[in-house]
Amino acid sequence: MSVDHGNSRYLQRSPYTSTYAHMGEIYVYHDLFGYILKMSPDILAFLERFEGDRVLPEEVCRDNANAFGEMTPESFVGIFLQFGCLIIPGYDQLKDLWDYIPVRSRWNVWTRVGGTLTFYAAWGERELAKVALTEAETAIWDRIDGEAKLDDLAADFGKPAVSELVKKLAHNSVQALKLSALPMSFYKHKQHMKPPYLTSTMPYAPYDAKTDTLPPGFEDMFSPEGYYRHDVSDADAQFDHQETTLSHLFRRPHPALRGRTYGETLIDALKRRWASLEVGSGGKVKILEIGGGLGWVARHVTEALEKFGTEVTYHILELSPTLAAKQRENTAGLSVTIFEGDALTADLPGDDYDLVISNEMIGDLTAIKLTHAQLGMGGEEGIDDDAFEAGLDTLGIAGELVKKHTVPIGDAPDPFYLNVGAWQLIERLWGAIKPGGHAILTEFGELGRYPVLSTQLDHPELSIHFGQLTIVARSVGFETDYEFVMDLIDMNREMKGLATTRSYFRALTAALADHDIALDKFGYTKPMFLNLLGDKLRPGKTLGEIEYDNLEDRLMGLVPHEFKALLLTKPLSH
Ligand SMILES: C[S@@+](CC[C@H](N)C(=O)[O-])C[C@H]1O[C@@H](n2cnc3c(N)ncnc32)[C@H](O)[C@@H]1O
Repeated sequence: MSVDHGNSRYLQRSPYTSTYAHMGEIYVYHDLFGYILKMSPDILAFLERFEGDRVLPEEVCRDNANAFGEMTPESFVGIFLQFGCLIIPGYDQLKDLWDYIPVRSRWNVWTRVGGTLTFYAAWGERELAKVALTEAETAIWDRIDGEAKLDDLAADFGKPAVSELVKKLAHNSVQALKLSALPMSFYKHKQHMKPPYLTSTMPYAPYDAKTDTLPPGFEDMFSPEGYYRHDVSDADAQFDHQETTLSHLFRRPHPALRGRTYGETLIDALKRRWASLEVGSGGKVKILEIGGGLGWVARHVTEALEKFGTEVTYHILELSPTLAAKQRENTAGLSVTIFEGDALTADLPGDDYDLVISNEMIGDLTAIKLTHAQLGMGGEEGIDDDAFEAGLDTLGIAGELVKKHTVPIGDAPDPFYLNVGAWQLIERLWGAIKPGGHAILTEFGELGRYPVLSTQLDHPELSIHFGQLTIVARSVGFETDYEFVMDLIDMNREMKGLATTRSYFRALTAALADHDIALDKFGYTKPMFLNLLGDKLRPGKTLGEIEYDNLEDRLMGLVPHEFKALLLTKPLSH
């Protein structure tokens, strides 16, 4: 079709745009360039006004004149034009490609058999997409080096073949290719200048504003207790796909832990740290674990203690009935009893524990979001003490705990979160631990950083402000200590481990399964992964793209150095 590009008065939404939603936010993905734009529902509604080929931008802007606060509707038209989301009606965007440089995306999975490539993609919860290239297409792919323009490739392979490949591989179902205005060599020593879309992917669920309800926003989803009680239906999948923990990655003997499991190493470290734990021949230890996952920590701690000749009583308090059932199965035959209930409200099963373990669960407990305005903070004069006190009084338990434990929040960003559920748990633990007893609480977080949201999960989870947690624990009466989990378990940081994301892991699992290789969610080191592949596939040659990272920086989808432990001791006399 011939289009009068210069004189058209109309604009239309590009047919190459697709829409996604996650936790109250909307994203538009461009199926040719790979751009990702994040927006709120009202801005998507604005874009959606440009359906059909007779829409005048002036009219849409007039209707939305004061809709976006300080931003004008015209500025959004400009952004949508810049990112190819609005076009002159009927305009063929394939015409615009040739000066762009095709770039291979991060987290691609492909296999090469008999000279041709097959891509595997499984974005978010979407079905696996398996895309086989022809020999000619594979030849084009092999020429993509992040430097040559599409025009250069077209000179050798012809425009129709090259544009078909871009359509196929940049499409939201595959996302193997992005188009960049600049060659990758430009970013060599300026990685931080790279436009984020070049290394990002769109794993969220497709969203149609006309028929779908927007998934609830972060605040609306709090608290996550509801998530665990109702939404965990497949226990193994929960840890293999939705939410992996460090202890899950080390649930089998691991070379980075000198051939031991997480649970074994943990109890060994605690035994060396706390002589009062009667771990050893003839000793007796009573342990409570809060939130036991699949039960592997319970199993390995109990087995290790029994091996030392210690008499163990091990209780788990678990919120999710599905996980409780799995814990019973995985600890069968051991002295482990599982109690179902919410750690913040249920009666704790005992009051004389030697040790309480809360491994990677306090991030699941309730947090509260606050703003400076709510508490009279951030004014030119600093904190308004009266407004601050009055604000705290409106916050219920959160305000009470800030006051009671004098939790400093004057340095909070705006807005900010407080790990109120974790503070409540610490208060409850005082009554569960016998004098001289201990607790360990691990989670991802920092000593001085306010909680940040972890977005890769299907439910909201916040990091822990360990500084505030320590203040609460001391105020309650505990002696405290703080450690990196990887130091506590003496993890070998130098080793290289397989790096994955959730979607990449699913795609890789499918690719390997086609070659009779069973991949499970485990902390694969480089030699372990190569050993798993055997002589069936070779990274870089017949399997791509495999990334390894230093174990402390990334193992599968986790960042081990982010995990910290708060260690508590209840003094003998208080
Ligand atoms: C991220 S998992 C960690 C599991 C295990 N400790 C591990 O290291 O693999 C969190 C666990 O805490 C449980 N949980 C979450 N909120 C809870 C609550 N309020 N009371 C008791 N258990 C809870 C979950 O069901 C799950 O078993």
